[in-house]
Amino acid sequence: MNIQALLSNKISKALIMAGAPIDSDAKIRQSAKSQFGDYQVNGIMAIAKILAIPPRQLAKKVINFIDLKDVTSKIEIVGPGFINIFLNRQWLAMQIDQILIAPKRLGIASVLPQTVVVDYSSPNVAKEMHVGHLRSTIIGDVIVRTLTFLGHNVIRANHIGDWGTQFGMLIAYLEKVQHNNLDDMTLSDLEVFYRAAQKNYDENEEFAQRSRAYVVKLQVGDEQCRKIWRQLVDITMTQNQISYNRLHVTLTKNDIMGESIYNPMLPGIVADLKAQGIAVENTGATMVFFNEHKNKAGKTKAVVIQKKDGGYLYITTDIACVKYRCETLNADRILYYTDSRQHQHLMQTWNIARKAGYIPESVSLEHHMFGMMLDKDGKPLKTRTGGNIKLADFLDEAIKRADKLIREKNLDMPAEELKQLVNTIGIGAVKYADLSKNRTTDYIFNWDNMLTFDGNTAPYMLYAYIRVISIFKRAAIDETSLTMPLVINEDCEAILATRLLQFEETITIVARDGTPHVMCIYLYNLAVLFSSFYEHCPILNATNKQTCHSRLKLALLTAKTLKQGLDTLGIQTVERM
Ligand code: ARG
Repeated sequence: MNIQALLSNKISKALIMAGAPIDSDAKIRQSAKSQFGDYQVNGIMAIAKILAIPPRQLAKKVINFIDLKDVTSKIEIVGPGFINIFLNRQWLAMQIDQILIAPKRLGIASVLPQTVVVDYSSPNVAKEMHVGHLRSTIIGDVIVRTLTFLGHNVIRANHIGDWGTQFGMLIAYLEKVQHNNLDDMTLSDLEVFYRAAQKNYDENEEFAQRSRAYVVKLQVGDEQCRKIWRQLVDITMTQNQISYNRLHVTLTKNDIMGESIYNPMLPGIVADLKAQGIAVENTGATMVFFNEHKNKAGKTKAVVIQKKDGGYLYITTDIACVKYRCETLNADRILYYTDSRQHQHLMQTWNIARKAGYIPESVSLEHHMFGMMLDKDGKPLKTRTGGNIKLADFLDEAIKRADKLIREKNLDMPAEELKQLVNTIGIGAVKYADLSKNRTTDYIFNWDNMLTFDGNTAPYMLYAYIRVISIFKRAAIDETSLTMPLVINEDCEAILATRLLQFEETITIVARDGTPHVMCIYLYNLAVLFSSFYEHCPILNATNKQTCHSRLKLALLTAKTLKQGLDTLGIQTVERM
């Protein structure tokens, strides 16, 4: 049930009947305060201005045409021309009963399925994942889960950095130190290796030349080079898969779509861009000039898509990649989860791809960028020595801290269950702390804030969930026994019911904007409302059976909504703690 959509639809019709232009936006919003009703129509003033009539007059006309008899209990005009809408409690009760008949989808209407490619995580080969990859990995995964739940066809694209000059360098270094058996190597060995190779490359021209020769060999498909390359990718992604599993992220090896797969497309792309007059040769390199963009000095911005020596660049690969996603994967939407520093890169990529006619107007390209994790001094989060914090170490730390928080409180819990609980809380806390922030800005990372039972945190949410389900457990109530129709008499029942019915509105926003924090706010608010309902409305000791059943039904749907909401956030729940 999407109340906002229902009201928008009905009120738009009423607006048109009242003489407003067809594309008028009624601006229906959830009311911030209960005295303003449940929803507000905020668009009347702007539309009245276009029609050149007094807003209150338009509001009156609209109200006369609104066809919402069963849905609302009261519609009133206030102030200069706002319309407040109060929902009918009987209608609310019926909607909840309806959802509980088949609660699996929580009453969410089916969507017109789209094919959505989600580009996320995307670490680089031969390097360990660090905290910088955390946000892309977990935010991207929320959107994957959300779109999947809504019924879309989702393609996870782990665009790993598995191509480029660094592989020539690594192969040359392996040869130099005569290390021809990679089997016993771990990813952290590889990282040390990488640094040594880089040093040789920077300091020794002869080594650099050999590295470049290996890149060419790799590119033309030399058997031995390919074999080493494949092993490097494999070592990296086997290790990364462990982090994905620990993070309860849905990525698997099947989702790897690295830069290398676009390599065969690159010569054709450059040739085509030249033929179309989009790219030009300039002092030996091939470049694209953006005539519409000038930099501060008034010079036209430009990018290189092929270097003098024939090598291709990150952007060339991304042009091929977006074309592939559109033409071969048939994407309707392509979402990129990378930090804001890559925004210009993506804008340039899409600009070229659109100009070249690779992406039809109808396909939506969206950069769902995010800010950085900062330390308490507002600097990017680093190790004490200034290096990148490895993701694996970071997760170990989370578990250690969760253990400290949880163990004492659960001394009588079986060891295996306790371990599971600590894990769920530790990982859940890190994820939730991140997801609950508006992704577009930087945020200050703080272990203590995320591992507390107060406020909008994972421990609070998990505890709130347990509290609801324990009502059913304690009284040994089976949900199928709740046969009496729901009635709503008290204010706190009505408020809770309305909030429950706003799940679809919430998840629709998350799917549209890629904003997990909207779901976090919703779930937190739901948990708080449940708390006050629980305080004011006795459930098992209700005065009559129908009230008892009604309240149990509200509790039941609260539990299911919390669970499903947390699930779309990739946060696991526990049954007790
Ligand atoms: N590998 C890149 C990095 O670690 C991220 C790739 C993002 N996706 C893309 N299509 N460029 O920064």
